[in-house]
Amino acid sequence: MARVTFRNVWKKYGEFAAVKDLNIDCPDGSFLSILGPSGCGKSSTMRMVAGLEHISAGDILFDDRRINDLAPKDRDVAMVFENYALYPHKSVFENMANPLKLRGQEGARIKDRVTQAAKLLEIGHLLERRPQELSGGQKQRVAIGRAIVREPKLFLFDEPIAHLDAKLRAHMRGEIKHMQRTLGTTMVYVTHDQLEAMSMADQIAVMHEGELQQLGSPREVYNKPVNAWVAGFVGEPAMNFLTCEITNAGGKLMLTHPDFALALKPEQMKCLNGAGTAATVRMGVRPDALAISMTRPAEPAITGKVFVNELLGGDMIVEVELADARIRVKTAPEFAGAPGEACYVTVNRDKWHAFDAVTGKAFF
Ligand SMILES: Nc1ncnc2c1ncn2[C@@H]1O[C@H](COP(=O)(O)OP(=O)(O)OP(=O)(O)O)[C@@H](O)[C@H]1O
Ligand SMILES: [Mg+2]
Repeated sequence: MARVTFRNVWKKYGEFAAVKDLNIDCPDGSFLSILGPSGCGKSSTMRMVAGLEHISAGDILFDDRRINDLAPKDRDVAMVFENYALYPHKSVFENMANPLKLRGQEGARIKDRVTQAAKLLEIGHLLERRPQELSGGQKQRVAIGRAIVREPKLFLFDEPIAHLDAKLRAHMRGEIKHMQRTLGTTMVYVTHDQLEAMSMADQIAVMHEGELQQLGSPREVYNKPVNAWVAGFVGEPAMNFLTCEITNAGGKLMLTHPDFALALKPEQMKCLNGAGTAATVRMGVRPDALAISMTRPAEPAITGKVFVNELLGGDMIVEVELADARIRVKTAPEFAGAPGEACYVTVNRDKWHAFDAVTGKAFF
């Protein structure tokens, strides 16, 4: 088991920088998820840890040991990819036993390790089957089993369940997290799916265009995004953004939009750091921090029109049309407003964000 540290790590392909000055500390035994859209540098980062790509600049450390120049086979890491690459002519048992055989371990020990891993992954009854006799989820469990029999220092999982169907993905999220907790092995897990990262990781590293945007717990990344990009990427349905102005109404700062005005709380005012009156800001508010009704409430409300309703089982998402934008509101499935009808949206005053309109940096 190992602690993994990235120190000013760069990956360049010719002139193109795929990973820029990456700094992450992943404690021993913890679960780090690298999250970001396609092409942001996730796999490049992973491949540098595995030793499959040269590190262009900076250092990667396992505990206190710099591993930049260590051969892949000496790094003691086990990788699982989206493409699980099982040997088609070998049984599940032989597939899982293979890494141990290659290391010259003796038969009884191999049998022991494979049986234990198969039990943990609940594939003990499949050991005699060939890969073509397995479902996608079962194959993926065999691939994970093959990684865990070795008891490596570190797991590197690169989108291991991306191609599975939604239900199986949800199931595997739980299984992988449970497996990692049980074994206590440090995990670096790459995904473009924010739900996967949110539900499994101790720490999420959010990447965009090769740069680390934010490193934090799932709660921190969700509740205190450092910029508008992270705020928009994390959370489903996505955060709503509205361009607003800060105005001064008799000494009281207000967030003003053509459709509404919202008084800032004292602690929110402090966070504006002097970006005072008349500054343009982007307001960010998640669909679950809004409430909708068909009658005008007592508190100040945004007036709009129902655009469309989407029923998502236990919740309903209502898209509301304002004069110059559309916003999404999460509400109860009983909501009865029909498209075209006037409606009123109120904002939870503790749960909205303001971002610098130019840099995207969060004020709060
Ligand atoms: N061998 C290579 N040579 C040149 N450019 C590369 C090479 N490998 C990756 N890149 C580029 O580096 C960037 C990051 O690629 P990487 O594979 O790390 O992205 P990713 O975040 O894993 O994306 P995905 O989610 O699609 O797997 C991309 O723009 C990609 O085109
Ligand atoms: Mg990738």
